[in-house]
Amino acid sequence: LPLTAEVRGDHLFVGGIDMVELAREQGTALYVYDEADLRSRMSRYREAFAREYPDSGVLYASKAFMNKEVVRIAAEEGMELDVSGGGELAVAIAAGFPMERVHVHGNNKTPQELLEAISAGVGIIVADSRIEAARISQIAGELGRTQRIYMRITPGVEADTHEYIRTGCEDSKFGFTMLDDFAFKCVKDVMAMPNLDLVGFHCHIGSQIFALHSFDEAAEVMIRFAARVKDAYGLEVSELDLGGGLGVAYVADDQPSTIEDFARITAESVKRHCAELGVSQPRLLVEPGRSLVATAGITLYTVGILKTLPGIRKYVAVDGGMSDNIRTALYHASYEPVIANKASQPRTEIVTLCGKHCESGDAVVVDMPIQTPDLGDIVAVFGTGAYCYSMASNYNGQPRPAIVFVKDGEARVVTRRETYADIMSRDL
Ligand code: LLP
Repeated sequence: LPLTAEVRGDHLFVGGIDMVELAREQGTALYVYDEADLRSRMSRYREAFAREYPDSGVLYASKAFMNKEVVRIAAEEGMELDVSGGGELAVAIAAGFPMERVHVHGNNKTPQELLEAISAGVGIIVADSRIEAARISQIAGELGRTQRIYMRITPGVEADTHEYIRTGCEDSKFGFTMLDDFAFKCVKDVMAMPNLDLVGFHCHIGSQIFALHSFDEAAEVMIRFAARVKDAYGLEVSELDLGGGLGVAYVADDQPSTIEDFARITAESVKRHCAELGVSQPRLLVEPGRSLVATAGITLYTVGILKTLPGIRKYVAVDGGMSDNIRTALYHASYEPVIANKASQPRTEIVTLCGKHCESGDAVVVDMPIQTPDLGDIVAVFGTGAYCYSMASNYNGQPRPAIVFVKDGEARVVTRRETYADIMSRDL
């Protein structure tokens, strides 16, 4: 639940705003963000890392949810920013985010994207391959710049999560592989490339991870790697980025670790392995996305159709679906829904909230308890703040929902709803 969610009378309130009234005013489907939840998670991250490991930074992985407002809030809350391509970089620039606090990711950034990033003066480009490092070197040279880079290493750690979002294991398209000692050999090549300053190593082992030991294992692999680089090549990198991946609770049974435990375990692990292996403690970075924004977000829908299949299931069709939340169709994700105008009533029915799209797999919630639904009810789906808007589409010509930030009884539309004209605006 978002931090400020509460039930007043029969209605769900977030940020002091009645979700039923907001849905009627703004229309549905609608993304709503609890700004207090968002800010408190950002400050908890910063404070926890500052306490456990003072020489640290927290990057907001903007792929989880990006518009100009969240970038401005991230800047205010002392975050650094991870962007994964030219489009996200453009939003960061437009929002006035300090470029020296931006790191650029991606396993195949185009030469144009690299040019944009280096010209903008981004703090770090994370080189994903030797080919890319050479490309950064060349473009930086042409611009007369020296670019600070990390090398992204694939640490071979199997994080305990869905295989589609597992990224650190050996068979991955991301990063320099450690198989055949390839990554280690490449360090020497990268060190020799002009106009590059290799200042750190990066890894990202996956997403929606509950078991923190995976981060300890990744830290150990990375620090061993850094120690070998120091011994063999005399280069001691000053930064280590352990990526994102901390999981969140989507349903009541989920038991994620806390931000504070994540900070403590990663910090202790880095300190311990550095001491054991005789390397100086690097600046420690992490780049969470989901655990900063998922719980802050909810999606509001209106119930349009009810359909009962005797002995099979009850379908409740809402006015959105896979176009605003592809996660259920793609990863069998689960969410807890509530009828916002009946929030005080018990959830006694098991229903599937299906969408309005021309696809059988189009569902937001499969077989979950909810209050007895009626036509016109407003359904709130919790935990949709991450990877829903950012993965939204116009399938079936569906305009993307508006985004409203709520706080202290005020609601601000920060991204307006798409129009049909928007959908056609690029057709020549
Ligand atoms: N850093 C890198 C390099 C990443 O690739 C990612 C996520 C993150 C940080 C942030 O990870 P987080 O803290 O959000 O777990 N669409 C999927 C998740 C894909 C994650 C991709 N990379 C989903 O909806 O579950």
